[in-house]
Amino acid sequence: MNASVPVLAIDGPSGSGKGTVARRVATQLGWRLLDSGAVYRVTAVAAAAAGVSAADEQRMAEVASGLPVAFEADAAGDERILLAGVDITKQVRSEETGELASRIAVLPAVRSALLTLQRSFRTPPGLVADGRDMGTVVFPDAACKVFLTASAEARAERRYKQLKEKGFDVRLATLFDDIARRDARDAARVVAPLRPAADAIEIDSTALDVQQVVQRVLDAMAAVKP
Ligand code: C5P
Repeated sequence: MNASVPVLAIDGPSGSGKGTVARRVATQLGWRLLDSGAVYRVTAVAAAAAGVSAADEQRMAEVASGLPVAFEADAAGDERILLAGVDITKQVRSEETGELASRIAVLPAVRSALLTLQRSFRTPPGLVADGRDMGTVVFPDAACKVFLTASAEARAERRYKQLKEKGFDVRLATLFDDIARRDARDAARVVAPLRPAADAIEIDSTALDVQQVVQRVLDAMAAVKP
């Protein structure tokens, strides 16, 4: 880990718009991006492929500590996630994978096994880290911490649009229930629960468009830059 490399941590619940905002901010700053949710999702895909159950914390942590994962961009600049050389991008984004990721994310041994992989993304000139515990646990020394929220209704509608665009067949009411259940699990877990860092700037994106949120995040970052 290179502690001198600045980190911008963007945390918040699912559907708060973090992913889109983090990606745009990273592009504007010319910094690397860590989508830590994808790291938990890849662990879920690898565990399912290996037949490891979420009840088996030890084996689940072994899967997490040796993930042969690569995050790449294809010729069109779209993200591609490879596990042992196999393209698992679509599987990673499915609701089933999200649900399993949320269940294994409560396991302390898995969270700790994934720390090294997440911290390895911290390379010059800087890192935008998107997740639930970026500012609290993974990069507590982040130069700037943002906690992005939005109403549960707004978040369910955003997820609905996103998944439909990606060709998934989903129902809004089901998504709303899933989001509420995952929020509760993320907030209630003993290790690294979802909460803003004490020094985080909170942004409620319910009534803002993506570009407005991106601008607020860039402003927050500019305010802390030496
Ligand atoms: O953000 P995304 O939906 O891709 O994350 C999948 C799951 O991984 C979340 O529901 C959450 O439980 C877990 N997660 C986490 N800590 C992170 C990122 C994701 O616990 N930093």
